[in-house]
Amino acid sequence: MKKRFYITTPIYYPSAKLHIGHAYCTVLSDILARYNRMIGKEVYFLTGSDEHGQKIAENAAKAGKTPQQFADDIVKTFKDLWEKLEITNDQFIRTTDPKHVAAVQKIFSKLLEQGDIYLGSYEGWYCTPCESFWTSTQVGEEKLCPDCGRSVHLASEESYFFKTDKYVDGLLKKYEEIPNFITPVARKNEMINTFIKPGLSDLAVSRTSIDWGISVKENERHVVYVWVDALINYISALGYLSEDDKLFHKFWQSDDVEIVQILGADITRFHTIYWPMILKALGLRQADRYFVHGLLMMKDGKMSKSKGNVIDPLPLIEKYGVDAVRYYLAREIVFGSDGQFTPEQFVERFNVDLVNDFGNLLNRTVTMIEKYCESVIPFYKGQITPFDREIEELALDVVKEYKANFDDLKVTEAIISAFKLISASNKYIDNTKPWELNAQGKKEELDAAMNHLANNLYISAILLQPVLVNAPQELFKQLGVPIELQDFKLLNKYGVLGGQKVSKGDPLFPRLKVNEEVEHIKNLMK
Ligand code: MSP
Repeated sequence: MKKRFYITTPIYYPSAKLHIGHAYCTVLSDILARYNRMIGKEVYFLTGSDEHGQKIAENAAKAGKTPQQFADDIVKTFKDLWEKLEITNDQFIRTTDPKHVAAVQKIFSKLLEQGDIYLGSYEGWYCTPCESFWTSTQVGEEKLCPDCGRSVHLASEESYFFKTDKYVDGLLKKYEEIPNFITPVARKNEMINTFIKPGLSDLAVSRTSIDWGISVKENERHVVYVWVDALINYISALGYLSEDDKLFHKFWQSDDVEIVQILGADITRFHTIYWPMILKALGLRQADRYFVHGLLMMKDGKMSKSKGNVIDPLPLIEKYGVDAVRYYLAREIVFGSDGQFTPEQFVERFNVDLVNDFGNLLNRTVTMIEKYCESVIPFYKGQITPFDREIEELALDVVKEYKANFDDLKVTEAIISAFKLISASNKYIDNTKPWELNAQGKKEELDAAMNHLANNLYISAILLQPVLVNAPQELFKQLGVPIELQDFKLLNKYGVLGGQKVSKGDPLFPRLKVNEEVEHIKNLMK
């Protein structure tokens, strides 16, 4: 196991209000960052904003602001949202940060000097919203952008180009040698079949038609293409080519670090084709994994203002709590697949998983320990009944399965693993019938049942900590779990809890009235 973990999200365009689809990527990355910290790794988690390019300049002009003012205002709202979602990023990089600008210029100069970049001229179909040039084959007869489906226009300009032919074979070899370099694997195949096999053109890496960007030092009429500018954030944030490059050596250029880059399916091409080529040209190591998550859609397709189906995460957090939103995103949409946001599913997940299964288990357990054991969790005395043996085995398996899933970035599956123990514990109550054990005076069995329930809740709470930021703490409070026991490393042995005093608190999650809340969320979408 590598001792360090560097995780990045794409950096967001400050062009529109962030919707729940944007929050999705950042929340999932945060969950991975928290998990890796929990298992004892030194983690560096980066997110930020991608502020240059034509689109931002146009939107700023419409708003009557300078691009910088416009970006400053929107970036404030990003930071506020990440705070409300309790995102634990170590740095928020902005592509207008002077250290980023300097790194981009130095990288450009280096690649130019090495002959990886040359001056030529470009003619192609340009998609302004995606800031991408396409060939006529790619845009087809309808002249639509293959990424976003919007209309493209013919554009021509003098441009610097990055030579791809020198790096393409090496890239394909990398794809082959490291099977999980890009996952899900279908995304890798898509890159090979759609872009690489038909023949990769050189990438236009500068523009003369816009000026809101980082200027090319050698030729000030040009600004660096916004995608190249943006990708560099992953290393400029760490101080690459700056005086203080300690972070870069620690979290990028080191064998002790696992580098995981998270991105949405719509931006796979830049991250998994051109970015590895740029890194290779710079003589730097490659990331270990590119994890491509799916897109969060609405019933009527992509979220868009004109369809009136955009859901803003803030009112959801305010009404249902940050845990509910984080849980929904991580559990409902399988990490790696496309998913759909529906108010019905949001309310159902909340009521079924969080209220009935998890919250209720805590409530029942604390009530029974208060009633049968004078509020003190009985000490662990081994497996008294076959039910005890069965549930202990399951608990240990769940911890292993959970870890294997998380280590393989399977966030949804890891949560499902944790919930196996929660549902098995609810069944354990039905099987052991503590109220009968109490009535029959079977003290030893009753104590064992209470101990096992408390321990299972404790394990589940630790496992859910990367996802739920409040409920596990409340559970620890109610079960009297001291801070030194809130440690994932203790879970390799069963029976940690015993002797703690419990105290009943509010339910972890209040039950939602289905129709009322579905209606409420639908109104938020209008
Ligand atoms: N600025 C570029 C990324 C540059 S990274 C060097 C960009 N920005 S974005 O704001 O348009 O998107 C940021 C991230 O949000 C992307 O990973 C994108 O896939 C993701 N999402 C945008 N809409 C989304 C959904 N509806 N669902 C899930 N993720 C979504 O692209």
